[in-house]
Amino acid sequence: MVVGASFANISIILVDSTKGITTQTRRHIRICSLMGIRHFVVAINKMDLIDYDQVRFNEIKEEFLKLTNELNLKSIEAIPVSATEGDNITKKSINTHWFSGKALLPYLESIDIREDKPNKFILPVQRVCHISNKFRGYQGQIETGTISIGDEITALPSKEKAKVKRVFVTDKITDCASMGQPVTIQLDKELDISRGNVLTTLNEVQVSDLFSSTIIWMDDAPLKKGKNYLIKVGTNTVSGTVLSISNKIDINTGQYIKSEKFIKNEIVECTISLSENIVFDSFNNNKALGGLILIDRVTNTTSACGVINNTLDKEINIFHHETEITKEIRGNQKGQKPVTLWFTGLSGSGKSTLANEIEKRLVKLGLHTMLLDGDNLRFGLNKDLGFERNDRTENIRRVAEVAKLMNDAGLIILASFISPYECDRKMIRNIIGKEYIEIYVSTPLSECERRDAKGLYNKARIGDLKNFTGISSPYEPPKNPDIEIDTSKYSLEDSTEYVIKQIMKNLR
Ligand code: ADX
Repeated sequence: MVVGASFANISIILVDSTKGITTQTRRHIRICSLMGIRHFVVAINKMDLIDYDQVRFNEIKEEFLKLTNELNLKSIEAIPVSATEGDNITKKSINTHWFSGKALLPYLESIDIREDKPNKFILPVQRVCHISNKFRGYQGQIETGTISIGDEITALPSKEKAKVKRVFVTDKITDCASMGQPVTIQLDKELDISRGNVLTTLNEVQVSDLFSSTIIWMDDAPLKKGKNYLIKVGTNTVSGTVLSISNKIDINTGQYIKSEKFIKNEIVECTISLSENIVFDSFNNNKALGGLILIDRVTNTTSACGVINNTLDKEINIFHHETEITKEIRGNQKGQKPVTLWFTGLSGSGKSTLANEIEKRLVKLGLHTMLLDGDNLRFGLNKDLGFERNDRTENIRRVAEVAKLMNDAGLIILASFISPYECDRKMIRNIIGKEYIEIYVSTPLSECERRDAKGLYNKARIGDLKNFTGISSPYEPPKNPDIEIDTSKYSLEDSTEYVIKQIMKNLR
């Protein structure tokens, strides 16, 4: 119903005249309103069972009007109907001679659902291609609005501007294209645009990683603060979490209630934090960029649907201070370029041994290093974290932030963490930036298990250790690591030599 409502312009709320307004009716009213529907029809059904009683009809109608009073609706109509008898469905019924309005179908056909604001052009970029090997073209489906040659667009999140030079629909050049059409757009200058970016003629779209949202909780498991979800906004899917929950909305009164527990079907106001900046708008302004869903990473079910209310003030109130001594200066002083060598791979794959050996070599060369190791950091900074999905993500996020700070200090970092999830490694790359070098230690599971230096594989196999990577918890191999090394094939010395050779050009 939530998904359906997010696409609809009008809602018909069906009320059983023998029962009147129920809790379900109230919930449906709130959901339709939340999903942006501004035209309501209340079809008061089963009028035949109450002898087409005008007084009862008016009572229900009044109660409905009271409920929808603060919803800022554009049109609202109550119609007495009987689905079984066909009263007031396609044509007016003699049984309700006291009713002066239209029957349901003619009424639906008469509502003007046009929006007041003309829809601005929005194109989430799905692919960047080359047109006749010369020009770059940006492809996607137009979410809203129209685009014509000569229009000025803004690319988000970079906020760079350019003019539209050519528009293609399929492979044919055209002057303009509109909502729903798949297009390729060529601009009058080259901009740095990639998949997930947005081309738009809007001025006020926001770019942030923190916003307030109203969501409808749809999962059997209660909403948990701090749990990591996949969050889909427009065509972007990023990792994120519900940072804080302020209120839930009482579906009977519409009032906000403070609460600690949030269960299925409740409407909740919360703050959502993402692992990276995305382009969005408030749902009120723009349905395409303001709707979101939360997906449970483990069960892959949609845990909640919702709307974005607003970006939060974090970026407005917190300022980035540029220091005069930069990371480059700090690195130069040490005669090196700071980078983070991130070793990912199964437990026992040889990450720590290899990182340790490489650090020894770098120190011998007079370079300044620091080694961060999963096992070690879990005794201190990350001692509050376990091995559940969310804990691993938080573990990796903290380490990435620490590595970034140490890179800023001019140091070369060797980080050795299983880091089993693809999207967590994407987060590391986002945090650390171009200094991130991914080294995949691809020693096969069978070899890691054979080594079993810590006896953990054995424990996991006999069920004494839960969520163990490779056995009862997944490892998603990197698709495009900067360097890959399988330590079952080479001696430690050769593996070290191989990695050193590849990284040296990045270090000085
Ligand atoms: S990560 O998945 O969050 O990146 P991290 O590298 O910090 O893991 O820690 C992995 C180390 O913790 C392993 O080398 C192993 O010694 C230990 N460990 C204990 N329990 C587990 C487990 N369930 N899964 C993986 N490693 C575990």
